Amino acid sequence: MTTVLTPELTAFWDEPGSFTLAAYKRHGGYVALPKALAMQPDEVVQTMKDSVLRGRGGAGFPTGLKWGFIPKGGDKPHYLVVNADESEPGACKDMPTLLNNPQALIEGIVIASYAIDAHRAFIYVRGEVLHVIRRLHFAVAEAYEAGYLGTDILGSGFDLEVVVHSGAGAYICGEETALLDSLEGYRGQPRLKPPFPAVAGLYACPTVVNNVESIATVPYILSHGAGDFASYGTEKSKGFGIFSLSGHVTRPGQYEAPLGVTLRTLLDLAGGMRSGHRLKFWTPGGSSTPLFTDEHLDVPLDYESVAKAGSMLGTRSIQLFDETTCVVRVVLRWIKFYEHESCGKCTPCREGSWWVVQLLEQLERGEGSEADLDKLLDICGNITGRAFCALGDSIEAPVRSSIRYFKDEYLEHQRHGGCPFDPAASTLFAMESA
Ligand SMILES: Cc1cc2nc3c(=O)[nH]c(=O)nc-3n(C[C@H](O)[C@H](O)[C@H](O)COP(=O)(O)O)c2cc1C
Repeated sequence: MTTVLTPELTAFWDEPGSFTLAAYKRHGGYVALPKALAMQPDEVVQTMKDSVLRGRGGAGFPTGLKWGFIPKGGDKPHYLVVNADESEPGACKDMPTLLNNPQALIEGIVIASYAIDAHRAFIYVRGEVLHVIRRLHFAVAEAYEAGYLGTDILGSGFDLEVVVHSGAGAYICGEETALLDSLEGYRGQPRLKPPFPAVAGLYACPTVVNNVESIATVPYILSHGAGDFASYGTEKSKGFGIFSLSGHVTRPGQYEAPLGVTLRTLLDLAGGMRSGHRLKFWTPGGSSTPLFTDEHLDVPLDYESVAKAGSMLGTRSIQLFDETTCVVRVVLRWIKFYEHESCGKCTPCREGSWWVVQLLEQLERGEGSEADLDKLLDICGNITGRAFCALGDSIEAPVRSSIRYFKDEYLEHQRHGGCPFDPAASTLFAMESA
């Protein structure tokens, strides 16, 4: 068995009370904060640039660069907003991080706010996850009590208030500008960009929006040094991150490893596919990324290699499906999600997602034809790049990639007059009827 794991954020999750301030401090927490507060804010930003941390929320934008976009001076307040809306099918790393190690996020928030001269930070958390929200409130209260939040933090003269805000459970509110609208009290819908949040974000003020894992990684970088972090990973995809394995795998869970690890290695660590079954297809970065098959077991899971192989690293949400799974049914389920979550602001996504669902349902019932596959691809091609935000683009990825690798399985539905898969053997059918 390989020993490539680099447990940092996940190091002590299985300890009782791992979420408390005492546990975090026992494991080296709040060592980075005094170090950062003794530096000039610009030096902190430079450290983040040197670490080459790329945002862990999906797009992989360099975090230090984003912080550096916040204009200096000016009469407007600056804000930090943490995106804790995690709700894409397969994505499940931020919620366990918040449940088990929320202080890493809070320490990261103080350091990031200091670096961008923000005195108010928000954690926008998905509304359904009540247990996570309670944990976050507890963690924020503990940090205030200990003097890590509030006025004159650790005697530095730096003040910071942190607000935990729960959303109402809309996937679109994970898109950073929809999130900002929602935080301001409006219906969450994406804004036209530019202006980007760094110029006109929350209340039209300079704002940094970062993912939970991005900010929770900041204390490690400050305490161990940018060079240490950058020594992990590959040439252009530095550091380590959480890979979430779910589906037909023996030991699903969170595997923290350097970028560039392969699925073959991760599967080895996770005990392989469930007993007696083999890998059929998987998503490297959640349902919005083109799917891979068992041909891709040795693709290094870094931004560049995954893109070269035809997909995206996204949020490293690895969903694994074995040979009992009907790919048409899975893709239909994902697209139904996007159709339901489309905010309706733009026509290509609102109408296109509806049409794609109709065609997929028809194909799944065995009533489609080969010409419908071309129609599907044509509709998808007319959504991507024409929608208001990346939610629309997410629709094409699973459809096009599944047709690319499993065209015959789509057509088999027509020959069979319905889904050829045995519902008794498939856990997906069992889940649907539960
Ligand atoms: C439909 C949609 C949903 C998104 N959901 C999330 C989310 O739940 N969490 C997240 O961090 N980023 C999400 N993003 C990406 C954010 O817009 C943004 O890029 C990210 O929060 C930036 O953080 P990072 O630079 O630290 O990665 C979503 C994007 C889209 C288009």
